[in-house]
Amino acid sequence: MVHQPVMLNEVLEYLEPHPMGTYLDMTVGAAGHSMAIAKKLQGQGKILGIDKDKEILAIAEANLSSCGTPYQLAHSPFSEASHVLEKLGIKALDGVLFDLGVSSYQLDLPKRGFSFGKEGPLDMRMNLNSPLTAADVLATYSEKQLSQIFYEYGEEPQGRKIARKIVEYRTRKPIKSTLELAALVSQCYDYQRGRTHPATKVFQALRICVNQELQELEKSLSCILPFLSEKARMVIISFHSLEDRIVKQFIKANLASLTEITPKPATPTQEEQKLNPRSRSARLRCVQKK
Ligand SMILES: C[S@@+](CC[C@H](N)C(=O)[O-])C[C@H]1O[C@@H](n2cnc3c(N)ncnc32)[C@H](O)[C@@H]1O
Repeated sequence: MVHQPVMLNEVLEYLEPHPMGTYLDMTVGAAGHSMAIAKKLQGQGKILGIDKDKEILAIAEANLSSCGTPYQLAHSPFSEASHVLEKLGIKALDGVLFDLGVSSYQLDLPKRGFSFGKEGPLDMRMNLNSPLTAADVLATYSEKQLSQIFYEYGEEPQGRKIARKIVEYRTRKPIKSTLELAALVSQCYDYQRGRTHPATKVFQALRICVNQELQELEKSLSCILPFLSEKARMVIISFHSLEDRIVKQFIKANLASLTEITPKPATPTQEEQKLNPRSRSARLRCVQKK
């Protein structure tokens, strides 16, 4: 499936790319946003793209190579962005974009294990070189640790019950596949949870845990701040309250050097939400370096 860049018009509006600028896309993915920024640079300036998924960087490479704007891509966690910039000899940025979470390419590939609707191994790693998979978490974490993850990263009200069920099940058989886990979680629900699949929050929690998503975000926001030029803009699109809380706290703690351009987060239009249901939970915040 092709990944539709979320809130693309708003990203361009808030980022205000100018042709001579250097822009860092912290979550380049398939380069949907980066290609649109590249067009605004009209063959000048520079796009830098980071992603921890090597497979997706190959797609970004293919897409950006036809844009005619200079670009460089790096396979790295975004928490290491300062090292990437130092290696590339980049001292200052005119804009930074974060479009958090997973891409449709990752979500829709059963072998990556992100989706509870498709049979696949319980992998969920964005970086295929990292050692810990979701199956490892389910096999080795204690009942208490699992219940904590489901509660903290998934805000899952049945977290304890689900953790108990998993620990009981794994004494008989390791939990290896996405559908196996989804079925197990569903058994802990004796009521229909609206239109949402009962395993939604557990899958979110495992993904956040496997990829250390919240720690990554916290670290990267502070590490990129010193690279922002005067009046540089930073746009962050988050998809759940845990991410948005970190962004909000970061902005609040740095108001001495940042101006908040969006005191309330911008949200996708009704039309976009209809066309791309994955955009529904998006919250965009923008700050400008003083
Ligand atoms: C929502 S997608 C970005 C899609 C992109 N904006 C586009 O329009 O094609 C998020 C991307 O960020 C990457 N990613 C998530 N967390 C990361 C991290 N901590 N370090 C580096 N890349 C990360 C994922 O691998 C994924 O490709």
